[in-house]
Amino acid sequence: MCGIVGYTGAERAQGILIEGLTRLEYRGYDSAGVAIQEGGALEVVCRKGKVGELSRTLEDFDLKGTCGIGHTRWATHGKPSEANAHPHTSCAGDIAIVHNGIIENFAELRDELMARGHSFASDTDTEVVAHLVEEAYDGDLRAAVADATARLVGAYGLAVVCDREPGTIIVTRKDSPIVVGRGAEGSYVASDMIAMIDATRDVVVLADGQTARLTAEGIEYFDEAGEPIEPTVTHVDWDIDMAEKGGHPDFMLKEIYEQPRVIRDTLAGRLVSGALAIDELDMTPEELDLVDRVYVIACGTSYHAGLIAKNLIEAWARIPCEVEVASEFRYRNPIITPTTLVVAVSQSGETADTLAAIRDARVKGAKVFGITNVVGSPVARESDGVIYTKANKEIAVASTKSFLGQVASLTLLALLLAQAKGGLTTAQIRLLFSELADTAEQVEAILEDTAAIDEAALACKDATSALFIGRGMGAAISYEGALKLKEISYLHAEAYAAGEMKHGPIALIDEGFPVIAIATKSPVYDKIVSNLQESKARGAMIVAVATEGDEDIRKHADHVIYIPKVRDAFSAITASVPLQLFARAVAVARGCDVDQPRNLAKSVTVE
Ligand code: M6R
Repeated sequence: MCGIVGYTGAERAQGILIEGLTRLEYRGYDSAGVAIQEGGALEVVCRKGKVGELSRTLEDFDLKGTCGIGHTRWATHGKPSEANAHPHTSCAGDIAIVHNGIIENFAELRDELMARGHSFASDTDTEVVAHLVEEAYDGDLRAAVADATARLVGAYGLAVVCDREPGTIIVTRKDSPIVVGRGAEGSYVASDMIAMIDATRDVVVLADGQTARLTAEGIEYFDEAGEPIEPTVTHVDWDIDMAEKGGHPDFMLKEIYEQPRVIRDTLAGRLVSGALAIDELDMTPEELDLVDRVYVIACGTSYHAGLIAKNLIEAWARIPCEVEVASEFRYRNPIITPTTLVVAVSQSGETADTLAAIRDARVKGAKVFGITNVVGSPVARESDGVIYTKANKEIAVASTKSFLGQVASLTLLALLLAQAKGGLTTAQIRLLFSELADTAEQVEAILEDTAAIDEAALACKDATSALFIGRGMGAAISYEGALKLKEISYLHAEAYAAGEMKHGPIALIDEGFPVIAIATKSPVYDKIVSNLQESKARGAMIVAVATEGDEDIRKHADHVIYIPKVRDAFSAITASVPLQLFARAVAVARGCDVDQPRNLAKSVTVE
């Protein structure tokens, strides 16, 4: 979401901070800033845009200080701007903080602090922390940070400096990564060890509630109660390339493993006092209640996220929802009225067809919501409201974590529409939200043991074609599974709603033909089992993605990939993950470059 760095030592901080921030730019890049202790005061310099912009500005400042913190931002609360860029400071400007995460109770804290005379310079959730630390400060920065964080609800990785404690950085975390390391020239902190890998290979991954005090001389660690502790030091052998990939052999795998975090970040702060809140959409419940038709427009994987959303919007909000590839939508004359809501989904936010469709829909009078991963992208700028998926920069051409971010965001939108339409009660929304949040752990469980997936992939690697089938939600999931496989392994794959098998696709099946079936427990489970039997009878090699505990499925499948039991509405989140891993494993076994498949680009900015 955001990247934070800090350094205190014998060297000038400016260059070290910029280098660290540049390595962390994958976490966000809509603005960047540093706070450096300079001659007894804090010099804070922030710029909108990428770290390069900040770096050029700092050349004029040429700061000599040897202790400082820095931040590269991915906007959550408050638009990308210089005012909203971190570090944020206290009223007196003597305390500066950088933050990664979301402070869920910031609005009430802000009101409280303002009532006590604090003035705020930004729209961010983060700034409250600087003011809380300011109020708590009584000569001990560590104690003040502990007092301040005790008031916070949400996730945070924090680095704090104060001009009255020269050469000291206090860091702490909850549900947000913080890595601390000691090099020959000083002490370092960052959201990811990649930012300090040139200085040290021995790092401490701070645990939730722990705090570290960094000085030029060394690092002290404290537990939640403020008692000193001995940290566990991890030695990392990775080279820069591996470190950038988080120790994974390719970006695709790294990004697949980031998905539990994406789900958590997407949901953070969305349930306020039991009600769904998506303030960025800037529509009142009454306006939402008037919506009588939804179009989801998108391309590729984003289109598949739309197919999943259709199921949820129609089931929960009872609003007709059509999903169209943008390149078709823009060239026909869809029925659009002022009560039509168009939802444009795009990871990059710059897909030419999706943009053209947005423009067309707005001319025809529709309200357009964008769902995109890139802050300030054309889709974000040209939509009436925007939800940012919290995937962070996605490098592999094949979308994985951005897809899960889209599905999670669209699920929230479906719940919001259901809330406005009265399709679900408050209690139902709370229950669904909590089950949706549980999928983060369920995805973690899937990622822990991939042996069955790898085995199925090896069995399929020499095939020339494969068929993905599913019903209901499973059909939408199978479309995305087939796209993943063909785009990175070049193995021809088709997806079909399983009920269509007898209308043509079953003719493809002969001895050993791979059929990958979404056969999770759902209202149409028995029907999909019948499809498996029909396929098996014709010699298919069946790979079934099934629900844990379903032993019966083994009778019908050659390979079973079990996933945790979830409500059918959320099965797209869990069942898509093994299909991503399956596609990647097939591609690796076939010797393909999984991050940069031939003929494809990450952004499709031309028709
Ligand atoms: O950036 P967008 O989401 O608008 O991109 C849409 C498609 O080009 C994209 O999803 C493409 O299909 C990916 N290669 C899928 O992995």
